[in-house]
Amino acid sequence: MRNIRLFLVVFALVVCAQLSAQSITPVPAIVRGGVCNGEVCVPATPFDYKQSFKLFFVGVDDVDTQRLEAAVVAAGLDVKRVKKRAKSGYLHFEVKPEMLPNDEGYAIVTTDEGIIVTANTAAGAFYALQTMRQMVESGDWQTGIIADYPRFEYRGVLVDISRHFRTLDFLKRQIDMMARVKLNRLHLHLTDAAGWRLQVDSYPRLTSYAAWRTPHDWKGWSNSGKKFVDEGSEGASGGYLTKAEARELVEYAADRYITIIPEIEMPGHSDEVLAAYPELKCTHNPENQGELCIGKEATFEMMQAILDEVIEIFPSEYIHIGGDEASKENWKLCEDCQRRMREEGLESEEELQSYMIRRIEQYLNSKGRQIIGWDEILEGGLAPNATVMSWRGEEGGRIAAAAGHNVIMSPHGYCYIDAPQDAPYSQPESIGGYLPLEKVYSYEPIPETLDEEVGKYISGVQANLWAEFIVEDSHYEHMLWPRAIAIAEVGWSMPERRDYADFRRRAVAIVDRMIEEGYTPFDLKNEIGNRPESLTDVEHLALGKPVTYLYPSRYYAPQYAAAGDATLTDGKRGTWTYSDKRWQGFLGRGGVDVVIDLEEVMTVRSIAADFMQICGPGVFMPCLVEIAVSEDGENYTKIADIEWEVILDELPSFKTFGWEGETRARYIRYKAHRSKYTGFLFVDEIIVK
Ligand code: ACM
Ligand code: ZN
Repeated sequence: MRNIRLFLVVFALVVCAQLSAQSITPVPAIVRGGVCNGEVCVPATPFDYKQSFKLFFVGVDDVDTQRLEAAVVAAGLDVKRVKKRAKSGYLHFEVKPEMLPNDEGYAIVTTDEGIIVTANTAAGAFYALQTMRQMVESGDWQTGIIADYPRFEYRGVLVDISRHFRTLDFLKRQIDMMARVKLNRLHLHLTDAAGWRLQVDSYPRLTSYAAWRTPHDWKGWSNSGKKFVDEGSEGASGGYLTKAEARELVEYAADRYITIIPEIEMPGHSDEVLAAYPELKCTHNPENQGELCIGKEATFEMMQAILDEVIEIFPSEYIHIGGDEASKENWKLCEDCQRRMREEGLESEEELQSYMIRRIEQYLNSKGRQIIGWDEILEGGLAPNATVMSWRGEEGGRIAAAAGHNVIMSPHGYCYIDAPQDAPYSQPESIGGYLPLEKVYSYEPIPETLDEEVGKYISGVQANLWAEFIVEDSHYEHMLWPRAIAIAEVGWSMPERRDYADFRRRAVAIVDRMIEEGYTPFDLKNEIGNRPESLTDVEHLALGKPVTYLYPSRYYAPQYAAAGDATLTDGKRGTWTYSDKRWQGFLGRGGVDVVIDLEEVMTVRSIAADFMQICGPGVFMPCLVEIAVSEDGENYTKIADIEWEVILDELPSFKTFGWEGETRARYIRYKAHRSKYTGFLFVDEIIVK
């Protein structure tokens, strides 16, 4: 990054005092109050932004003039177009290449005479207007200089309209809000197992059949056989974007300097394609198949024809081709896939997938487009020009960057905002663990371990909002905002300018404004915060004492081992999420069956452990807890039998299974039985007092 201070010289202005940029999100690079011209300095004073400005553009073409004029109005500024530079009361835009060190950057110089905005591109001028809009909205605009530019060129949000279709109006509302916080990529997840959402003339059953289902909600549909129905048939629910609508959306986004990146999933997550065109299944014709048959030439004919239509609608240089989570099992059994592997000298099914991605990349490159794929496209060999979207953590992104590929970071632990953002019992149904605003905000897209040269391949960051459990638009907005604003600041602002307490204060104000405007964001000012029990370590008689895991509970799930055998007596209580390495997870028949050795006989007055239930990801309460004590480790006395009726309820819950009384014991056996529901038991600590 060249030094942005350089361009301040352009104005022959020297900065006076640092302003606090109270109201601007993402926080700008440089904000200075007052201006100096030579020796003469004028300190910052409140600026009269309510006056009527004489609006003048230099270097802006007709299309961008219209876009910027609309943004001026949206910013709440009163203007009149003039034909030449005014001497006072002006709002001047000067857009010229190479004025500033960054094409999306801008400078705003506010004096008592007026405002001069400088930018290399109209996008930069547009971002200046978003900053001005926020100053108007907060009533906090002072004379001085703001010089600002994004850290990353890609600042994105994924909106999933496959699992539940959303209307054009809904998408436009989200685009409006994205633009206000300088997000610039809308990744539209148009296709997935649950529904195809874009008109394709060459394969009409994708939308006359694979876009419609009953019942409406994904969960009900998923639990009732995942069947599609014909458009217009009784109870058919769903929908798709017509080409005209998709073009309208592309234009609406472009007017706000946002690029829509369409995602057409392949070869996995394609159940709906095969429901509409079952002749493209593998040769053994499995009942459920989610991956396209790569052996059949017809698959490529279809995907290329679809992509031809897609690129006609979406001007984005990048087309997302998915590439994630394709099961390889059917390809192993398919004569066509196996023949393809022999003919092409492919040694594994991973290489077969890679063959498809490379071929599709070649096709799109020949049309002047580039591909983005989820990090699975690394397996079996990366297509030569592909950009990798790293979602299973950062490892894929690291490998791709080291190999000289562009990377967009979107690791699920920070960027999957389909997880609950507050105490799970206070939130609508969601997937995954607790992901509060603060954690999203804490994300650093360039891993420390990357050296500077490799770090340059990280071109940005994206929040993903999958919609399996999100039926209502209001729920979708609740999940999206304000966490997408945290991603906007992560993507735009320099790390040294970021401060969570300050961001949170600004985010609360934005959320309040959004609510006033009719949006339904998560109401940040009512945030409960993390699980109180997790905030301090707990002292108790079993702290640090050895725990023996009886068969089969000694096989706790490796990915949820937490602190291993020390977990249940390490004094660390779990947070709201089972993936915090404090909760220990037990999968399979056994449940939990452990013995704690207190190392001497002592008086015990209570024994208790907490469990959680979050049905979405399959986490359940036990149906029975048995507690027994012993002085010698051989003869046990049962002291508690706690039964519990596990109900598939909607709301996540936390519950203590414990005993109180008085007994003497050295050994404590704590046994929790799984219910009839397949899933995990999670426990964080067995507290003995
Ligand atoms: C993904 O979440 N399967 C990209
Ligand atoms: Zn096949």
